[in-house]
Amino acid sequence: PRPILLTRHGESLDNVRGRIGGDTVISDAGELYAKKLANFVEKRLKSERAASIWTSTLQRTILTASPIVGFPKIQWRALDEINAGVCDGMTYEEIKKNMPEEYEARKKDKLRYRYPRGESYLDVIQRLEPVIIELERQRGPVVVISHQAVLRALYAYFADRPLQEIPHIEVPLHTIIEIQMGVSGVQEKRYKLMD
Ligand code: F6P
Repeated sequence: PRPILLTRHGESLDNVRGRIGGDTVISDAGELYAKKLANFVEKRLKSERAASIWTSTLQRTILTASPIVGFPKIQWRALDEINAGVCDGMTYEEIKKNMPEEYEARKKDKLRYRYPRGESYLDVIQRLEPVIIELERQRGPVVVISHQAVLRALYAYFADRPLQEIPHIEVPLHTIIEIQMGVSGVQEKRYKLMD
């Protein structure tokens, strides 16, 4: 069985400010996580050949991968966070206050709701298809460093969770979700490396 390790990027400056989307760098805590992750990955995948590290094209995932050495790194646009369109850079409070109809519509149907000029969860699920095909084709372990909405969708695929649940699955920061695909099905472990 070969593991797939799923993790969000280390805490970003936008995470600290409560802003969605954006392309900020990681905070001091985020950098600490990047180091802990590198340690974990180097120990966990030491004897594994053909392992690779996949990130999105956003700074926060690339920076989180940067302390990891010895494995090839690949950037995927399809691993970028859900595009929040006109709401990119706002806090949930600001959306609620300035665009109450949008806020309510998303609350009502988070799976299907599409941000104006942005994406829905269903859009994200669709664009992940080539990533999933490639993940299944890999011979070695893969570390996927991505974002909350994207990882909810990827996780749901491997853990076989229903579509409706996807936007609500817990994928906390600074936690590695390890998925093992064996003959007897899928096994999961979570490693919380820090708060
Ligand atoms: O807040 C971090 C973040 O990754 C945002 O960039 C993104 O819009 C959001 O999480 C996705 O989570 P939710 O679908 O619950 O708003």
